[in-house]
Amino acid sequence: MISVHQLLAKRTNPSRNLAISRALSVGKQSIYLGSSQVNLDLAKRTNPSRNLAIFRALSGGKESIYLGSSQVSLDRLSIWQKSCWETYLTTGRGSDNLFQSIDSNRSRTIAVDELHVFLDSVGNKGVHPRAFKMLDELTHDHNLSRQEFKSWLNLATNFHQEQESQYELGYEKLPHLGERKPQPDDANYHTWNEHTMSQAVRKMEYAVRGQVVMRADELQSQGKEILFTNIGNPQAVGQAPITYYRQVMALCDLPAQDGVDHPNVYQMFPADVVVRARELRKTIGPAGTGSYTGSQGILQFRQNVADFISQRDGHPAYAGNIFLTNGASSAIELVLTTIISSEIDGIMVPIPQYPIYSALIAKLAGRQVGYFLDETDNWAATESELSQRLEEAQSEGLNVKALAIINPGNPTGQVYIREDLEVVCKFCSDNGIVLLADEVYQRNVYDPSKTFLSAKKVALETPGCENLQLVSFHSTSKGVIGECGRRGGYMELHNIDKYIQAQLYKLASSGLCSNVPGQIMTSLMVKPPEQGEVSHERFEEEETEIFDGMKNRAEALVEGLNKVDGIVCNPAEGAMYAFPKIEIPEKAIAHAAEIHVSPDTLYALSLLEETGICVVPASGFGQAEGRFGFRTTFLPPDDKMMGAIDQFKSHHESFCARYS
Ligand SMILES: Cc1ncc(COP(=O)(O)O)c(C=O)c1O
Repeated sequence: MISVHQLLAKRTNPSRNLAISRALSVGKQSIYLGSSQVNLDLAKRTNPSRNLAIFRALSGGKESIYLGSSQVSLDRLSIWQKSCWETYLTTGRGSDNLFQSIDSNRSRTIAVDELHVFLDSVGNKGVHPRAFKMLDELTHDHNLSRQEFKSWLNLATNFHQEQESQYELGYEKLPHLGERKPQPDDANYHTWNEHTMSQAVRKMEYAVRGQVVMRADELQSQGKEILFTNIGNPQAVGQAPITYYRQVMALCDLPAQDGVDHPNVYQMFPADVVVRARELRKTIGPAGTGSYTGSQGILQFRQNVADFISQRDGHPAYAGNIFLTNGASSAIELVLTTIISSEIDGIMVPIPQYPIYSALIAKLAGRQVGYFLDETDNWAATESELSQRLEEAQSEGLNVKALAIINPGNPTGQVYIREDLEVVCKFCSDNGIVLLADEVYQRNVYDPSKTFLSAKKVALETPGCENLQLVSFHSTSKGVIGECGRRGGYMELHNIDKYIQAQLYKLASSGLCSNVPGQIMTSLMVKPPEQGEVSHERFEEEETEIFDGMKNRAEALVEGLNKVDGIVCNPAEGAMYAFPKIEIPEKAIAHAAEIHVSPDTLYALSLLEETGICVVPASGFGQAEGRFGFRTTFLPPDDKMMGAIDQFKSHHESFCARYS
């Protein structure tokens, strides 16, 4: 059956149009066009007067038609509907526009049959079977009001697909939520509900704390021992905090008489810690750590960051271009919020990617434009892939504004060499695309043949990149510090329009300031104790122990995974993750489809139930079609990690045997 929209596409073919018009004039129900039977009645039935008018116009070769008082281009009508649908599917926004686009006779209702025709025209893409069931239950001349249509849309779109699986577990059931007031049974009691809430948030997904992790939480609350390797949260799995940081932070927080000015302070703290804490307290000022700071963060701390960057890159950096933020996450959010201005704004993100990008793009109702990293070339971002994806996005009418890179990579673990970065910087510079360089793992480079190079350094040293607009992110959550709970981080703006910078400042101001302990932590990260200071030796020892532990476990994990038949893993040159590719038996793939989960979610859930190891299915980060895998950190202590490596093997074997 061919819909009116497919007919629209055929209107350029005069003989077909003549055939349609003849068939219509003699009252035929359907007609063969080539090998396909076109149901003329279907289109007429939905809104007889409108569709007949459209058919007539088409068969008369018309380009546009008056529907009510508005002139509608027939071509545009179909393009408009499709783009509203795409927008809704990808962003959860624009349900009103979609309603209007389908209700082109402005009746303020949509007939059931009209909706069928529309769905047919979009190839029923992304429509959940239950939505058809609901339509079947209505009479075909039923007219859906705007509100009915929106509720139907909620059902139709697959946002909650996975919750239909046997592993049904939604955020509502999280065991960590704690006791709540009983809810009334009446589904209409709350006006703020699933149907009226931001559909962009409803659509947003965050796999790192997604379905598998929720199940792990549930199992843990039932007393099962879980090894959480799903998230780069080192101290949560046993990494000790570095003493120096904690000592300085404590003295910054404590009232002076109980800390820096206490008569016994030198018996409790090394002298250089006391000196540093005094310095920091002076910088923060008499108001102390319990007060708001300037929106961009304390100037002297930003100067520390600028000095660190200048020294790292060999190029000047400026305190005025630094924003101190609540981890890198809030910096990324500030930037994306300021960049995305409409539903056709595209942000290029690597696939696989760290899902903060997909989550924020969904939340801000922009469009994600994925570019695939080449697994066979150590996850490189190639020039041909970037250009192809840009062209595709542009041909779909998207306006690509920014591109994110993650170096060292999460979840992929690669460390880019200069040539890799040159390609990306040149591409962004040539196409006027803002480069977002996520460099939170810059201290986590384990491969001795690799060094971290910042995108800024490479841009400044590559001819043709002079105009590159760049924002770089760093964090106190990673490296060997692992102070994720401090929420410290910064972003550096390079070549960013001063109006935009002011708007970023305004946006940061609306959140007043980033947290002060996080700002202190950032200052400490970029200005650790120096050689010759009392704390230096212990500090170095602690850092080295953490770093070497990560490096050794990274090697052991990748080696162990590669020994398993059916698992292949690229080296974890940097960051905190291994991202193996796994072969999943056909029967398991079929079973996963039956229970509405991705094959690697099935695998990860099975691993969790069998071994207590909690990984993230690779599908949560995006991956090439047909690839399956998972991401695991190598952060747990040696004994647990070594045990986990053995369990990865035994589980893989039992999983394959179960589905062979
Ligand atoms: C690539 C990447 N960017 C940003 C973040 C956010 O880190 P935070 O907000 O803790 O600084 C993470 C956290 O895992 C990450 O992996």
